[in-house]
This record gives sequence, structure tokens and C-alpha cells, in this order.
Amino acid sequence: MIRKKDFLSLENVSKEEMLRLIALSMEMKNDPGHSVHLLRDRMIGLVFQKPSNRTRVSFEVGIAQMGGRGVYLGPDEINLGVRESTADVSKTLSRYLNGIIARTNSHDDLLILAENATVPVINGLTDLHHPCQGLADLFSVKEHFQTLEGLTIAFVGDGNNVCHSLLLGAAKLGVNVNVATPEGYGPDKNIMEKVLSICMDSGARIEVTRDPRAAVRGAHVIYADVWVSMGQEAEREKRLQDFQGYQINAELVKEAHGQYAFMHCLPAHRGEEVTAEIIDGPNSIVFTQAENRLHSQKAVLNFLFNTW
Ligand code: CP
Ligand code: NVA
Repeated sequence: MIRKKDFLSLENVSKEEMLRLIALSMEMKNDPGHSVHLLRDRMIGLVFQKPSNRTRVSFEVGIAQMGGRGVYLGPDEINLGVRESTADVSKTLSRYLNGIIARTNSHDDLLILAENATVPVINGLTDLHHPCQGLADLFSVKEHFQTLEGLTIAFVGDGNNVCHSLLLGAAKLGVNVNVATPEGYGPDKNIMEKVLSICMDSGARIEVTRDPRAAVRGAHVIYADVWVSMGQEAEREKRLQDFQGYQINAELVKEAHGQYAFMHCLPAHRGEEVTAEIIDGPNSIVFTQAENRLHSQKAVLNFLFNTW
């Protein structure tokens, strides 16, 4: 029996699969009629422990465009691990649904969900990974620059979920990444080890520094994420202090490549991690990046539900 496929982390996606997913994302974007029957008679659950705009809406729209139906299950309905165990939720939902997209607080919960599910599970963001975002980001970079070769991305801010997925995807594809974070906010040690070992094969250069100016120098892409992630609201005041000096503003972007693109996974907080001038300025591609979530997630659905 062929084991069902999941999409939990870019670590488990090969370079060839990444390239195929990026090419398919472009095919999806160019042809809204692509795979319109792929999910016919299929029901896909969206189990979300945290709020979402882009992930929820782009998946629900994409599933509908492919002939399926999404069933949204917010924190109050399922109450994962509290009302019943994550394993029981997973086994039960597998009897009703053909696939599960999950946004969980902890990545370990997502792994339990996936281990106990008999249907494909897609990571819609955990504390450690956001692979749908990472894929759409690299697709957006390729679309914008027409190539990935020789590019450098500067990620400035908190080295958590979005940064991890960007690092894993970029490392696979041989794209260089400079990460600048304050002390104590760097990428997870285990994930960095994996990233660096992937780089041995791909030749990508990954630098982690405290200095945002050094990270941005000559970069083709400047990438920002919020300083206070969902679930970290109690640390807000401390984080706003700790991240001083890491804002993307007109002064910092002077260091970048002349034709740099500004990217942000969104939601954004103008005046914190980025100024309005930059995110709403001519180099910003954030809404194309957000749109691309739809196309690349349709590619992921194809990857999991079609034989290719
Ligand atoms: N970027 C992203 O995942 O956005 P949402 O939290 O709105 O889904
Ligand atoms: N790091 C952010 C990403 C949101 C898409 C968070 O976890 O809230």
C-alpha cells in the first residue's frame, strides 16, 4: 500500500519536488481552469487553533476552484487536545474528510495529527514551520526575478516559523539567505543544523548575524515578519524593546541591491517591523506574494491528491 503523503515541513520536500511545485504554481496562476475536477467529491477540513486570513481564505478558495469543499473548524469547535486527544480528533476526522489542513500551536501536535490520520495532512503554520508560506515565497521570488540563481534574501526579525521555512526552502534551491535577529531570537538550533547540511549539497550560503545592515547589504530580497507572533502577546512589550534597530526603513534599504524586492508574509504592523513607506512603496511585492499563496497551495493539493 502506498502511504499517504503529507506536507508538514519543507525539510521533507526534495529539491526536484520544490522545483516542480514552483513550476506548477505558475501553471496554476496562468490557467485558472487547471485541475478544476481534482478535488471533486472531496472534503478538506481546516483545523485552526489560531486566527488566519491568507491561509484559510486561499485554501478555501483553492479547494473550491478545484471542485472540492473546505470545512472550517476553528478553535472553539475542535478544541484540540482539550476536549479530546489530538490522536482521537485525527482518527475521527479521517473517517469524514479526504484531507486535513491544520494550524496548531505546537509542531508536535501537528505530527501527532499526521501520524494518526489516514488522509493527507498539510501544515497551515505551527510554532516551527510554515511550509505553504515558504513555498509561495520562493515561487514569488522566482516569478519576480525570473530566476533563483545567484540571489540573496535578507531575513530581518524573529527567526521562527516563517524564517525556518524560508531557510529550508532556500537551502534546497541554492538561494543564499542572510538572517539578522537580536540575541535570543535566532533560528532554532536543530533546524539550522538541517539547513546547513542541506547547503553542503546545494551550495547555498547561509549567514546568521546580529547586524541588520550587514544582512541587507547587496540583498535582492528584504524579508520581514512580525515581532510578536500569534500566541506571544504577553511578551509584546519586551519584544518591542528587543527588536529596536531591526525595523525595515528607508535608511536600512539603502544597503540593499538597487532593484531589491520587499517581502512580508503578512499580517504586517506598520511602524514596528517595517515602515509604511517601505511596505506600501514601489519595491514591495507583498500582495502579489499573498496572492501567490493561492496558486502554490493549489500546486500542493495537486502534489498530495494527484499522482505526479
Ligand atoms: N501569512 C499567513 O499565513 O497569514 P495568515 O496568518 O493570515 O494565514
Ligand atoms: N510568525 C508569525 C507568522 C504569521 C503568518 C506568527 O507565527 O504569528
